[in-house]
Amino acid sequence: MAIQSTITLNNGTVIPQIGLGVFRTPDGDTTVNAVQTALENGYRHIDTAMIYRNETSVGEGIRRSGVPRGDLFVTTKLWNDDIRAHRGKEAFQESLDRLGMDYVDLYLIHWPVAEAFEESWMELEKLYHEGRVRAIGVSNFQVRHLETILKNGTVVPVVNQIERHPLLTQEPLIEYCRAHSIEIEAWSPLGGTGGNLLQNETLVRLAAKYGKSPAQLVIRWDLQQDIVVLSKSVHEARIRQNADVYDFEITPEDMAAISALNQDLRTGADPDTFTF
Ligand code: A2P
Repeated sequence: MAIQSTITLNNGTVIPQIGLGVFRTPDGDTTVNAVQTALENGYRHIDTAMIYRNETSVGEGIRRSGVPRGDLFVTTKLWNDDIRAHRGKEAFQESLDRLGMDYVDLYLIHWPVAEAFEESWMELEKLYHEGRVRAIGVSNFQVRHLETILKNGTVVPVVNQIERHPLLTQEPLIEYCRAHSIEIEAWSPLGGTGGNLLQNETLVRLAAKYGKSPAQLVIRWDLQQDIVVLSKSVHEARIRQNADVYDFEITPEDMAAISALNQDLRTGADPDTFTF
C-alpha cells in the first residue's frame, strides 16, 4: 500500500483512504494550520461540515498549502436544520461560498432527520446530476434509513460515514453497506475528543509489539478492512503520525483481537435517538 492508499467508490470516484477530520477544530488559525499542515504532510482528503463552522478556514488552509484543487478530496455535509427546511440547494451553495470552491468531491446528508432526509436525498441527486458535486452519500444512517434511500432514490450513496472504532465496530451495518456497494467512513476513529480509547490495555500492548502508537494501530486496523479513516488532530506531530501507517501489517489474529474489543459503545449521538 503506497502512502495515501485509495478506494474507488461505486460511481468511479477515487477517495484517499486517510482524511483529516476537523470536527471540534476551532475556526480561524487552528483549522487553517491543521489543514495546511496535513496537506504539507501528504494528506489529500479533508472532511468538514457546515455545522463544524470552519469551512472558511478549511478553504483558507487549502489555498495556503498550494496543493492544486484537482489533487484534493474535500467533503462537506448538509446540516439538519437545512434538511428540515428543505434548503439543500441553498445550503450547498453557501458551503461552496465559505470554502471558496466551485465544487466539492463528496456531499453528505449529515444525519437521517425523520420525515425530511428522503427529500434532501432528491436534492443531492439533483446536485450530482448537474455535476456540482463528484459524489453524494450519507452519514449516521442505520439500515432502515438506507433501505428507504435504496428503494426511493435513483443514486446509490457512495459512502455511509459512521462512528466506528474498536469499542463500536458496527459489523452488521458495515456488512449491509458492503452488500450494497456503499463504502464506510469512520468518524471518531480514535475514540473521539476526550475519550480514553488510546489508553486501552490491549491496544497499548499490541501497538508496542509493532513499534507503533495505539493511534497508528487503530488507523491501520481500519485501513486493512478497507475503511476510510477520518482522524482528527490539531498537532503537527500527531497529524504526521496518523498518516505514518504504511510500514507495518497487523496479523489476522491481532486484527481479530482488536475487533473483539467491541462493546457497542458510542461516544457520540445515537442515530436512533438524536434530538438535534
Ligand atoms: P488533538 O487534536 O489534541 O491531537 P478522533 O479522531 O477519534 O476524533 O479523535 C481525536 C482525538 O484524539 C483528539 O482529541 C486528538 O487530539 C486526539 N489524537 C489525534 N491523534 C492522536 C495521536 N496520534 N495520539 C494521541 N491522541 C491523538
